[in-house]
Amino acid sequence: MISQQFTVPEHWKWFTEARYGMFIHWGPYAQYGRGEQVLFREHLDQEEYAAQASAWNPEHFDPELWAATAVKAGFKYACFTTRHHDGYCMWDSAYTDYSSARQAPKRDFVREYVDAFRKAGLRIGLYYSWIDWRLPAYFEGPEKDPEGWEKVRSYLHNQVKELLTRYGRIDHFFFDGVWPRNADDLQSVELLAEMRRLQPGILINNRLGYSAEHDGYRADGGVGAGDSDTLGDFGTPEHLITVDQRRLWESCQVTTWRLWSHVFGERWRPADYLLDMLCECAEKGGAHGGNLLLNVGPTADGQLPPEFVQRALAIGKWLEVHGEAIYGSDGGFLTEFITRGRQTTKNNCLYLIIRFWDGRPEMRVADLASKVKAVTLLTTGQALPFEQRGDDLWIKGLPAEAPTHLFPVIRVECEGRPATNQWGRERLWEGDPARVAEWARSQRGTSVYRDGRER
Ligand code: GLC
Repeated sequence: MISQQFTVPEHWKWFTEARYGMFIHWGPYAQYGRGEQVLFREHLDQEEYAAQASAWNPEHFDPELWAATAVKAGFKYACFTTRHHDGYCMWDSAYTDYSSARQAPKRDFVREYVDAFRKAGLRIGLYYSWIDWRLPAYFEGPEKDPEGWEKVRSYLHNQVKELLTRYGRIDHFFFDGVWPRNADDLQSVELLAEMRRLQPGILINNRLGYSAEHDGYRADGGVGAGDSDTLGDFGTPEHLITVDQRRLWESCQVTTWRLWSHVFGERWRPADYLLDMLCECAEKGGAHGGNLLLNVGPTADGQLPPEFVQRALAIGKWLEVHGEAIYGSDGGFLTEFITRGRQTTKNNCLYLIIRFWDGRPEMRVADLASKVKAVTLLTTGQALPFEQRGDDLWIKGLPAEAPTHLFPVIRVECEGRPATNQWGRERLWEGDPARVAEWARSQRGTSVYRDGRER
């Protein structure tokens, strides 16, 4: 159970160390190129969809190439859609013939993914959708259709158990699509216990449905709410980077605009935007995590889209040089740095991640109370001269040209853990406004006139 103050158990430390995971949305829906929800969103005919799904045979799927790309891109783990809302299974489930193993490909894609990614040294995550749009009983629920519901519930539980017993160690499990059911219908609590028995180290997300017994009051009554307040090991802000105070968290984000699986002709977010999301997660994180699960929707024939690869590798190259500011870092929000970029900390170091380079030789960093030992432009390895005046750090000798197209990073090594002062702790919009009044009074007087004097 989650408490406000928690320490991350040893066997979950890999997650905060990792910071950066690759989300993979891939299934027969990729053939349509209109998102993973095309069946429902366009109200397609199920029979036609199933025929096309069953004929799907992605000839270029090469999981080792995916894994090698993921490693080069700096991802430390991945999460693969084993079954999305359309119900098609990407493994050889004993409970259905609607799978990649029993239809055209005759391949267990989950096994291939797990083997290749594990061999490449990545941690393994599996995505699994509760909802299956084909099953009326899922929507009717246990009250209207007790028998039908029981079949669905045991189908779901059995499949999850399959996934956790066939493929060796699973590190991360991402439930999705819980609406309109809740944790009590799904018996999530019982399933969770079983999952932990099968995979003692596993991290399970919070999309387990509202639980009347475990969750507190919720304004929406929990009906249709996908997330549990208390169940699950990590929070999953989607398209958002918001801190979950109660547990580890991982923001899931698309590299395109809105949809998760491959979309024909979609726009792509630029590499600096994607990297900024990673830095934002690290900055907002800390002991409670702050990971980015960055998505790719491979093409129907099984390839990572070149637009994705190009961006991912650019970020990977950046991480090779600047990774110490991200992997295993603690959160930032220390000095007053919002004007220039983001910041993280690790041990005695403060990392300034600079969004844009203005070409000036000096930079002032306000509100650093610690004594500084050394300042390094991590991007080039160059030692930078500096001076401390009160709580202001002046960094000097900065090159006129930006040292990288992405974000240059300056490492500030302090004598102890980097500390800030009251301004840094309270930030601009928090704390006692008397502090700002005092500053205004001492700096500029009391009136609206240019000289600050009363008339
Ligand atoms: C949503 C969507 C789904 C996607 C998921 C990723 O809940 O229903 O299509 O897989 O988010 O977090």
